[in-house]
Amino acid sequence: MHHFQFRNGELYCEEVPLREIVQRVGTPCYVYSHATLHHHFSVFDGAFSEVAHLTCFAVKANSNLAILRLFGTLGGGADIVSGGELFRALKAGIPARRIVYSGVGKTAEEIDYALSQGILMFNIESMEELEAVNARAAARKCRAGIALRVNPDVDPQTHPYISTGLSKNKFGVDIENAVKAYQKARTLEHVEICGLGCHIGSQLVRVEPFVDTMKRLRILLERLDGLGISIRYLDLGGGLGIPYDRESPPHPSEYAEAILEELRGLPCTLIFEPGRVIVGNAGILLTRVLYTKETPTRGFLVVDAAMNDLIRPSLYGSYHQIQPLRKEDVQTRVVDVVGPICESGDFLARDRELPVVSSGECLAVMSAGAYGFTMSSNYNSRPRAAEVLVKDRDWFVIRRRETWEDLVRSESIPDFLQ
Ligand SMILES: Cc1ncc(COP(=O)(O)O)c(C=O)c1O
Repeated sequence: MHHFQFRNGELYCEEVPLREIVQRVGTPCYVYSHATLHHHFSVFDGAFSEVAHLTCFAVKANSNLAILRLFGTLGGGADIVSGGELFRALKAGIPARRIVYSGVGKTAEEIDYALSQGILMFNIESMEELEAVNARAAARKCRAGIALRVNPDVDPQTHPYISTGLSKNKFGVDIENAVKAYQKARTLEHVEICGLGCHIGSQLVRVEPFVDTMKRLRILLERLDGLGISIRYLDLGGGLGIPYDRESPPHPSEYAEAILEELRGLPCTLIFEPGRVIVGNAGILLTRVLYTKETPTRGFLVVDAAMNDLIRPSLYGSYHQIQPLRKEDVQTRVVDVVGPICESGDFLARDRELPVVSSGECLAVMSAGAYGFTMSSNYNSRPRAAEVLVKDRDWFVIRRRETWEDLVRSESIPDFLQ
């Protein structure tokens, strides 16, 4: 469910015609719907209302301060994977005690920062990291709350680049060695075991891999309990998929039902780290057709958004629905929608049947709210796009478009070249 709908042939976000945003802000531009963000967060969080839980939004999916602030005000926490994400989450007003820190490569500086802020827990991904967190906490004369992120060796049946729970992936401590790792953690003076975590992958469209994971975690929890190691927080990661095209992923209530069935009777507080399912369909990317072009073999729409703005099609071959801002009864034709970047991999869609459009017209690239702006770059020295948040009849620029000056702001030319 989202709030991007056609009215009298014109595409709106909530009560705002997108044409208005294009005219005032320009393109390329990300637009998010407040009502959709609010609804998605509330539906996900509400699906677990019968049990103690904390929904920690995965900041990597969309890290705009305004969006993080919204989830914070709805009672959400944050799942972070870097010092920069911690900085953002705190700046957005998310309390440190609602922040969990995942990721395989936390630096000493980042660990210190997280300790100084008093985050809820570090999701530890290796034995060396465990030692490093213990050492940093010792230096600060404190104890770090930790969970072990285990790798359950479950196939999430998604794109290989976003599969994280197979033993060949770099993530987590393999489940076979988890007991040993907890026993080790128990001997360390400056860590406090408080959780067990996992995250098996992203864009999962079936509940079975989640259920298989729960079964494995439950066995581990029982073994730990037998050893007197009690786990207060069970962090089940994120990963629930969304419809981009014809996928029909489980509704959050279906996902919750399947998970709660497996975990019945466990005394843990559950933590979730959803990203895509909350923001994916709550955002779109607006772009303008610069040129139409025919070659002997293909038709192209050259648009002003590129792989630097939305890399998912180039990186994963992902599908994003594309539609003109005006729905008219025109013919369709099969085209490639490509950006201005000097790479043949710079496309937003290939072999796509679209209504015939002319240069100057605008298109909406749908379902771009997750891993859209956050994965954008300045490749080809392209300033990054603006971001706009729509609420009812109002809209707000929540990130201005970068300028050419922004591109060079952090650079300097050494004296010997002056
Ligand atoms: C540790 C962790 N948690 C949560 C997420 C969010 O996943 P999703 O956006 O699929 O919900 C990710 C995504 O990569 C992740 O690595």
